[in-house]
Amino acid sequence: MTNKVLLGSVSAAIFAVAAAGIGLADIRTGASLVINGEIPIVTETEPPEFLQDVFPEIYSGWVFRTDETRAMEEDDFDNPGMLYVEQGIEAFNTVMGTEGNSCASCHDAPESLANVRPTYPQWDEAHGEVQTVEMQIIECQTERMGAEPYGYDSQQMRNMASLIASVGRGQPVNVAIDGPAAETWEAGREIYYTQFGQLEMSCADCHERNYGNLIRADHLSQGQINGFPTYRLKNANVNSVHNRFRGCIRDTRGETFAVGSPEFIALELYVASRGNGLSVEGPSVRN
Ligand code: HEC
Ligand code: HEC
Repeated sequence: MTNKVLLGSVSAAIFAVAAAGIGLADIRTGASLVINGEIPIVTETEPPEFLQDVFPEIYSGWVFRTDETRAMEEDDFDNPGMLYVEQGIEAFNTVMGTEGNSCASCHDAPESLANVRPTYPQWDEAHGEVQTVEMQIIECQTERMGAEPYGYDSQQMRNMASLIASVGRGQPVNVAIDGPAAETWEAGREIYYTQFGQLEMSCADCHERNYGNLIRADHLSQGQINGFPTYRLKNANVNSVHNRFRGCIRDTRGETFAVGSPEFIALELYVASRGNGLSVEGPSVRN
């Protein structure tokens, strides 16, 4: 068994590389995902311009999963994440807060929000900040409904975020990184290349330089977020982007940022932009 990981002895020890050469060898690229026989999903495509020297191709995390896990995403009846979408639909139509509104009072059907997941995080002019989908939901609850806002990573929030992702499935991720969002994007990029924890590893050390390789019996993906929220077999629930970021930083034995923090909002914008061109796929199914 050779070990081609050149990250120093500590971090190298956590990778188990079975063969020399690109670890993509035993990953089946070129397969296509069509949801419910009617929503084609782009799971591999050419990278956005700023990554063209980094990757020949960008891949959805779906590409790195086993046949069984992949298949669960092909039909909504087999995708356990859709149960949370149903709970999101119920909440969408329920009056909350002192103004007597439900989400549907102003947004009609959830499908009217189909363009949200592909384009968020997004600059919000009125608030002068980049907003995630979660922040936008909290804004509507507090500023327009007189409602107690969902916790950023609460079950209710993840249900609603899953609903909003589901209606955007198949659309290309297309987050803006220029104009007023540029500063936040830069901050996110800096975090992406910062080494964390005792292992002194950055996001890039795993997801840019080692995708396709095995780490603790798991195939490393490019760490894309086009599939969020993800239904994870590990905890049998839908999981937020920020929760995944936390888990990854914890795995380096590092101090992590809080869910909803400015650091994670910036990182989310940056990571989302690395997937510009892949399809929105949430709620996806992952390990
Ligand atoms: C009283 C009317 C009203 C209610 C009720 C309301 N919203 Fe909104 N919502 C708006 C308005 C107005 C905007 C546009 C604001 C902006 O651009 O910042 C908006 C924007 C949004 C967006 C972003 C749309 C986009 O294209 O960028 C999302 C997502 C959203 N709302 C979700 C919800 C959810 C989920 C609920 C229920 C928890 C809800 N809203 C309740 C009025 C409402
Ligand atoms: C020590 C290696 C390691 C580091 C460092 C790391 N991750 Fe991960 N990450 C993993 C593993 C293992 C998985 C699960 C397999 C996969 O999907 O790649 C994962 C999964 C993910 C996923 C889920 C992908 C999907 O399709 O569901 C995202 C997003 C992600 N990481 C982002 C990040 C970000 C952002 C950072 C930096 C803050 C980071 N990771 C740092 C190992 C790492």
